[in-house]
Amino acid sequence: MAKVKIINLVGARPQIIKASAISRSIKSKYQAKIKEVIIHTGQHYDRELSQVFFEELEIPKPHFNLGVGSASHGKQTGLMMTGIEEVLLAEKPDCLMLYGDTNSTLAGAIAAVKHHFPVVHVEAGLRSFNKNMPEEINRLLSDHCSTLLFAPTNAAFKNLVAEGFRPENGPPYNINNPKIYLTGDIMYDNTLFFSSLAEKKKSHLLQMLDIGRGEFVLVTIHRDINTDDILRLNTILTTILNLAEETKTVFVMPLHPRTSLSIKNNLEQMLHKLEKSRYIRIIPPVSYLEMTFLEMTSKLIITDSGGVQKESHFFKKPCIVLRKETEWVELVKNGTAILADADPALIAGAYSFFLEKAPVLEYPAFYGDGRTAEFILDEVLMMFR
Ligand code: UD1
Ligand code: UDP
Repeated sequence: MAKVKIINLVGARPQIIKASAISRSIKSKYQAKIKEVIIHTGQHYDRELSQVFFEELEIPKPHFNLGVGSASHGKQTGLMMTGIEEVLLAEKPDCLMLYGDTNSTLAGAIAAVKHHFPVVHVEAGLRSFNKNMPEEINRLLSDHCSTLLFAPTNAAFKNLVAEGFRPENGPPYNINNPKIYLTGDIMYDNTLFFSSLAEKKKSHLLQMLDIGRGEFVLVTIHRDINTDDILRLNTILTTILNLAEETKTVFVMPLHPRTSLSIKNNLEQMLHKLEKSRYIRIIPPVSYLEMTFLEMTSKLIITDSGGVQKESHFFKKPCIVLRKETEWVELVKNGTAILADADPALIAGAYSFFLEKAPVLEYPAFYGDGRTAEFILDEVLMMFR
């Protein structure tokens, strides 16, 4: 029987990480049945946002790199669509698999659906219900261009049903008869697979950063609302600096280039203060294993990242979310994540609630059994059998 040809589309850091679970599963279990072709749009291109993950997570080298780079939304998405369309027409895959909610996701979904290539959306159905987020537009449009939709949580599955997707649809599936599935979260596959390796390979990090296990707070900031609104960014950084100084606690901050750039260009004095503080460690973006190790050895995580919110749960760490809303609503309902927006009082309140009041927190298994990639590939194979 001919192999099923899947194009695996990546572009931004979290997609490379998510796609690695699919590539790994193909390599270990489905090599006889699936041919994988990887397209990298080039949305992320710095070594520490791209290449490092291919090496560390042993992902095959992309067959196509579109080299699109950074640009405005329209230009970036348009260039990606042009490149992806060319590859689709040349490669004629059985389907295009895409992840999450970036401009690369949207470009792939539109390019494929117009040429009737089935779109498989991994991490479907997530909604913030805030259409000012570029990601919310990307999610909505990508889901409605998809034939197989893999929702990672109950909430995401219900969102799809509320938008008219019918759980009772039966095969054969196509764009007018799409199939929605409740799966686990593919990032959990990676966490289970890589945690012990992270512990083994990256424990020197704590020494390098001069911090103790379980004694520091890990911070990531990269959302456009937090980096492009300078007043807001300044408020967040001031709050973090104050908390670090007042509580004499080290805050480790691997900075996304978007955030470093905004701080360098607009908040020079603040940067100076942060660099002078003995409690702040600003570092470049770290590799996946390094991030995993920092997450597992931190005592609290402060973030606006989607992926990092979930990983805080995987590692049973309380999480302060620098946003007004989140797609991962189960974490907030569970009380282990608190939405603090960019409000100094909310951030400080959540910090002392988690660390000083120290409530007993529980971390139920919201995100599956770590075999989500296999589940997805089995379903994809079934569609083309
Ligand atoms: C993108 C996604 C976001 C995701 C994030 C993951 C969109 C609209 N946004 O945001 O959903 O959470 O990736 O990290 O798709 N830059 C570099 N080097 C790089 C890449 C980017 O310096 O390799 C800088 C450039 O100044 C660029 C800026 O970061 O303009 C923003 O990059 P972009 O890919 O547009 O968006 P992200 O903020 O990374
Ligand atoms: N991550 C990483 N290095 C870093 C910051 C994040 O490897 O310096 C990983 C993190 O562990 C998670 C993913 O990147 O797996 C999350 O990506 P990001 O925060 O860029 O985007 P989002 O999830 O918000 O779309």
